[in-house]
Amino acid sequence: MKRVLTGDRPTGNLHIGHYFGSLKKRVEIQNSGEYEQYILIADVQALTDNFNHPEKVRKNVREVAIDYLSVGIDPKKTTIYIQSMIPEVAELTVFYSNLVTIARLERNPTVKTEILQKKDIFGESVTYGFLGYPVSQAADITAFEGEIIPVGEDQLPLIEQCREIVRKFNSIYGNVLTEPKALLSEKKRIKGLDGNDKMGKSLGNAIYLRDSEEAILKKVMSAVTDPNRIRKDDLGNPDVCMVYYYHQLFDTREEYQNVCSECRLGKRGCVACKKELAQHINRELAPIRERRKYYEEHPEEVDKILIEGTSRAREVARETMVKVKKAMQLDYFGKE
Ligand code: TRP
Repeated sequence: MKRVLTGDRPTGNLHIGHYFGSLKKRVEIQNSGEYEQYILIADVQALTDNFNHPEKVRKNVREVAIDYLSVGIDPKKTTIYIQSMIPEVAELTVFYSNLVTIARLERNPTVKTEILQKKDIFGESVTYGFLGYPVSQAADITAFEGEIIPVGEDQLPLIEQCREIVRKFNSIYGNVLTEPKALLSEKKRIKGLDGNDKMGKSLGNAIYLRDSEEAILKKVMSAVTDPNRIRKDDLGNPDVCMVYYYHQLFDTREEYQNVCSECRLGKRGCVACKKELAQHINRELAPIRERRKYYEEHPEEVDKILIEGTSRAREVARETMVKVKKAMQLDYFGKE
């Protein structure tokens, strides 16, 4: 079975952007029965730009784990693990750091963009750890001989960097590592409630999987609609309305076509339209909310899932490490 590897930085709860962008796909991959899927909670990577907020990373490890379980990630079929508890990944990162130049890291488009966005953290000079996180991500992937990496577009340069490291390693030490392939998600990035291209915590425009029904109604009420539509019978333009945009994500085809034509004809008021959207979002989130409630009431089960997943993952990383050390002539006494 082909090995699929993905993960998230635990810096906040997951929102519907993650849900449509990656979580639904992961559940699909899991249930196809065709892949062996690993999902890492990338706490070490989260620390690269949150090193001064360890409590935030710690808290969100469990939050993200519950987000995964609530959308239907089944720990019997998918291995969920905590990155920092796999020391082999840190070890590999050190070995790989010889195979990457600083100039190459500085040219990585994802890293470049992120450094610009994080000026408040790094000022004019970025840390060694942050600049090098693509190396650690290459270790995440190759420690598990990950073949398929489902990602959004912004992650493509990281996978390319990983592929380069793999080729360099294999050309020097022998053919040991597996070169991964990115599987680009077909869904475009989900826009925020305010119409911003990106949904995110810092932007304050996100709908979280853990939001209550009331919170969702409140957020939807604040969503940006057609500014030219003042009275209910004004003819609307759904193409510039965030409420319509979300209707398309949460409605059946028939439902959203109806929303569209009623809006254009001025037969649908924005308030009623928003209430209906909130209902449809809640319809989709109901089973997710139910599973979340279960895990929130059983934190010991969440811990058990993480401990077991991490121990299973560690076995795999250990096996890779034996091969890597042998290839690098670091197997001094025959073992390890
Ligand atoms: N960089 C990813 C993100 O920010 C998280 C991540 C860490 C990851 N290691 C990975 C993704 C390995 C895929 C494969 O969301």
